[in-house]
Amino acid sequence: MKFSSIAIHAGQEPDSATGAVTVPIYQTSTYAQEGLGKHKGFEYARTQNPTRLAVERNLAEIEGGRAGYAFASGMAAIGAIATLLKSGDHVVVSENTYGGTFRLFDKVLTRYQLCFTYVDTARLDDVERAITSRTRMLFVETPTNPVMRLTDLRAAADLAHRHDVRLVVDNTFASPYIQRPIEFGADIVAHSTTKYLNGHSDSVGGIVIATRDDDIEWLKFVQNAEGAILGPFDSWLVLRGTKTLALRMQQHSANGLALAQFLSAHPKVKQVFYPGLPSHPQYELATRQMRGFGGMLAFELGSLEAARRLLNAVRLHALAESLGGVETLISHPATMTHASVPAETRARIGITDGLVRISVGIEQVEDLIDDLDQALAAI
Ligand SMILES: Cc1ncc(COP(=O)(O)O)c(C=O)c1O
Repeated sequence: MKFSSIAIHAGQEPDSATGAVTVPIYQTSTYAQEGLGKHKGFEYARTQNPTRLAVERNLAEIEGGRAGYAFASGMAAIGAIATLLKSGDHVVVSENTYGGTFRLFDKVLTRYQLCFTYVDTARLDDVERAITSRTRMLFVETPTNPVMRLTDLRAAADLAHRHDVRLVVDNTFASPYIQRPIEFGADIVAHSTTKYLNGHSDSVGGIVIATRDDDIEWLKFVQNAEGAILGPFDSWLVLRGTKTLALRMQQHSANGLALAQFLSAHPKVKQVFYPGLPSHPQYELATRQMRGFGGMLAFELGSLEAARRLLNAVRLHALAESLGGVETLISHPATMTHASVPAETRARIGITDGLVRISVGIEQVEDLIDDLDQALAAI
């Protein structure tokens, strides 16, 4: 089956008890057993839940993996991936990784004798130099937030495997409609389902999709052992979200490109960061590894004052953190999502005071352009 059919059908049969076409929300903590040692495969809801199982199967197929495990948040999913490591192990990480991931690695996991080296994973020579005999994982985000720098996934997978290192890709920013890292050789894919997979800004969750037998067995064990599971209602919301993922991503991409083109032509905008613009330094890579370019973009206004004026003047764009919902959100990375990143690191990765990020929604694009136009006039 092709992408949209998989998204709508994978993991979902009409309910065996009633024929319900939509997987029910199995809001139960336990299951009656027929006799000692005799049950229908469900004993206790931390361990197994049919609604969660459906979304896990759905997302595993959507990403082209072999098994998926759903967690209470994207961070819980990344935390579970980290349990594949043992004390003394080393991880190479995209230097501009999501701040919450950096916080988990830097402030929590270093207490357990795990080491992390942050490099620009767009530069594979730097990645290779950072790999040591203790490296077990290469953890990549592509595109990066918010300056949309890309990592060549096929080359990264080849490099990682040459050194017997797992490639883990946080695919939250692109979504599997735009990019499927396992096709390029990734071993594990993670998502904050809070974003495009759920798509409606009304649930928090995470998923890990794995390909290797040993990882699948361990992640299943850890999901139950640590217990940070996705609840049945949130599982159901994500299942509903993925049914329209293809349509939504097509519209996010169309609107993203239109806004990027509008902003590029505007005299008050100094630079636009969007992989679908031929001016993007990795445009050719984007066309090779992405299907459409998604709804995330950033642009440079030159100063904090200009950014403040624009953000105060927008009406349809909501000033908010997060991304990937149907509604357009606008934010100021330096003081919002990336405020905890040290100033010199922000400067190195291009997060200036004049940088503004948009998570472009699926509204009528003319309305978004009109809103930006009037807000830019206020600068
Ligand atoms: C790329 C990326 N990964 C992981 C996360 C963490 O996800 P959650 O907020 O669902 O814990 C986020 C959240 O913004 C994110 O943007």
